[in-house]
Amino acid sequence: MSRIRQARAGDAQSIALVELETWRATYAGILADDVLLTMSVERLARRWSHHIRGAPGSVLVYEEERKRLLGFGHCGRQRDGTLGYEGEIYMLYVLPDAQGMDIGRKLLLALFERLVQQRLRSALVWVVRANPSRFFYERMGGRLVLQRQIPVGGQPVEAVGYGWADLPALLAGEERSRPADDT
Ligand SMILES: CC(C)(COP(=O)(O)OP(=O)(O)OC[C@H]1O[C@@H](n2cnc3c(N)ncnc32)[C@H](O)[C@@H]1OP(=O)(O)O)[C@@H](O)C(=O)NCCC(=O)NCCS
Repeated sequence: MSRIRQARAGDAQSIALVELETWRATYAGILADDVLLTMSVERLARRWSHHIRGAPGSVLVYEEERKRLLGFGHCGRQRDGTLGYEGEIYMLYVLPDAQGMDIGRKLLLALFERLVQQRLRSALVWVVRANPSRFFYERMGGRLVLQRQIPVGGQPVEAVGYGWADLPALLAGEERSRPADDT
């Protein structure tokens, strides 16, 4: 059965592969080619090992029946404490051939639950403005609250911030609307 679970040290390489494939598919034509081409799985995997070791539970993966990882998410404390949001979704990626199958929604809600468990009751996510995936966050109830340049692959890129002011209320609403047999 497919499931969402906490990432383990042994997942670092698989997460890096999902990140690389999804990043390239998403940002082709948006970011400069050299940014897309110079990414290395080994470097990304080292970074994921570091995150998984340093903050267990901050990285969640979606694993299908045959154990292949189809997506992952990473969350934690909002990095710029001045913005008024306690938590942040740092990254949420679903492999291109698995998109549109509700995996992103399930991962995002699991990340929100994780933030609430850490007493972080609101959340922000930064998305490159030109990335159409930002409309996913609107669909998930995020409000466009901020706009600024952020560095992506070492280059300044126009980005937008979506915010959720009350995660416990959002999760309670999801719970109420979920059919009884939906696991
Ligand atoms: C954004 C992303 C995580 C969404 O995951 P997904 O599994 O494809 O989305 P889901 O199937 O769970 O969609 C949930 C809802 O959002 C909607 N949605 C998903 N992507 C959308 C988009 N690009 N534009 C508008 N709506 C979208 C779906 O139609 C669905 O709506 P419904 O409730 O009416 O059925 C995924 O497409 C992805 O990884 N994109 C590339 C990486 C990226 O840009 N990540 C975000 C920046 S960190």
